[in-house]
Amino acid sequence: MEQIKLNIDNINNFVSKSTLSSFRNDALRRNKVLHEKSGEGKEFTGWVDLPSKTTDAEIAEIQNFATRFAKNLDTLVVIGIGGSYLGTKAVINALSDNFSELQKDPKNINVFFAGINLNEDYLFDLRQILKDKSYGLCVISKSGTTIEPAIAFRILKNDIEEKYGKAEAKNRIVAITNPEKGALKSIADNEEYKTFAIPNDVGGRYSIFTPVGLLPLAIVGFDISKFIEGAKLIEKNTNADIEFDNNIAAIYATVRNVLYKRGYKLEILANYNPKLSFVTKWWQQLYGESEGKQHRGIYPIGVDFTTDLHSVGQYIQDGERTIFETVLWVTNTKNKLLIPKNEENHDKLNYLTGKNINEVNQKACQGTINAHIDGGVPNLLIEIPELNEFYIGQLLYFFEKACGISGYLLNVNPFDQPGVEAYKKNMFKLLGK
Ligand code: PA5
Repeated sequence: MEQIKLNIDNINNFVSKSTLSSFRNDALRRNKVLHEKSGEGKEFTGWVDLPSKTTDAEIAEIQNFATRFAKNLDTLVVIGIGGSYLGTKAVINALSDNFSELQKDPKNINVFFAGINLNEDYLFDLRQILKDKSYGLCVISKSGTTIEPAIAFRILKNDIEEKYGKAEAKNRIVAITNPEKGALKSIADNEEYKTFAIPNDVGGRYSIFTPVGLLPLAIVGFDISKFIEGAKLIEKNTNADIEFDNNIAAIYATVRNVLYKRGYKLEILANYNPKLSFVTKWWQQLYGESEGKQHRGIYPIGVDFTTDLHSVGQYIQDGERTIFETVLWVTNTKNKLLIPKNEENHDKLNYLTGKNINEVNQKACQGTINAHIDGGVPNLLIEIPELNEFYIGQLLYFFEKACGISGYLLNVNPFDQPGVEAYKKNMFKLLGK
């Protein structure tokens, strides 16, 4: 089975093979600690072997419920934030057609997200749109107490009950939350909603392979078996007994840490495919929340190329030399579009006649990588054969595994997030809670 590839040839000018080699045992030790679940934050390492532990029966249960739930829906509203939002959004965007919400005859159910901010107009506008839709709510919160989704759910619950009546609304609401406690669990039990559990040993940003990701993806119409299959393959191929040179997660984690030690404090994740824009956002949360602590950590930034080459491209090429870059390249596009010949050739583009747009994009990618290396930006390249459930499952698990190893190499606990409490404390005080 084909696998995503990590190419580190372009760091040779910045990190020698022998330097990299001297870190290999460290990385493999960290990987072993992850698999043995014996390191810092071990109580939140349930995600490490989650793909291989997910049974066909569990997938079937989610799939069967999703099929029933989706029956009369044209729209799904997923309510959640952070780890209860970004993974689902990332996968849906990666696998959907561009502009799918505007298609006349969409293949999949349309999805809107709520509880992702505290903006009044956002929720107001969403409620207007929902008036004409046949919709359901999938509310996700591990703690069950996060303010953004809690406010959105309070309002959208009222709306859906008003539109369909309380009894029918129950069939259109599903909750994914802590199996034992929390406000959302109490509401769900009280209202007798169908609920799915987020395992206690999996934190929000590592939860895409739990019902947090699997259920909404199945409702929308994606193949969650293939998604898990992809993750399972990378779990196997980055296992504790895989040697360094074949372990893409250990290599990525090591290269990042070596570069960080040399003063490269910012990592740019660049895609050349707008469908991956939210994979970048998900990655940003995963790495930012896992590593940015004790005044340490690489700052993760996402860029969409070639779009952002016309904005921050200048800084990347020429600004302060503290940046390294990881490129996500998707080899095959779903559709082919040739550049046509034009007799008049006023735009002087005839030298491109007959080429696919993807060929031009590929040359832009290659040209940019070369320019960045020349300009002092170390480059890593991740090649993804195409965008489907199998490869996206591989990619997301790869990033999770590498993040665990990388956090341990940095000597932080990659599974807590004490820093996010500070703003909440202030906000609640100001709100008079
Ligand atoms: O990664 C995390 O733990 C966070 O980003 C949470 O997912 C986010 O704060 C939402 O939390 P909850 O699912 O408890 O509402």
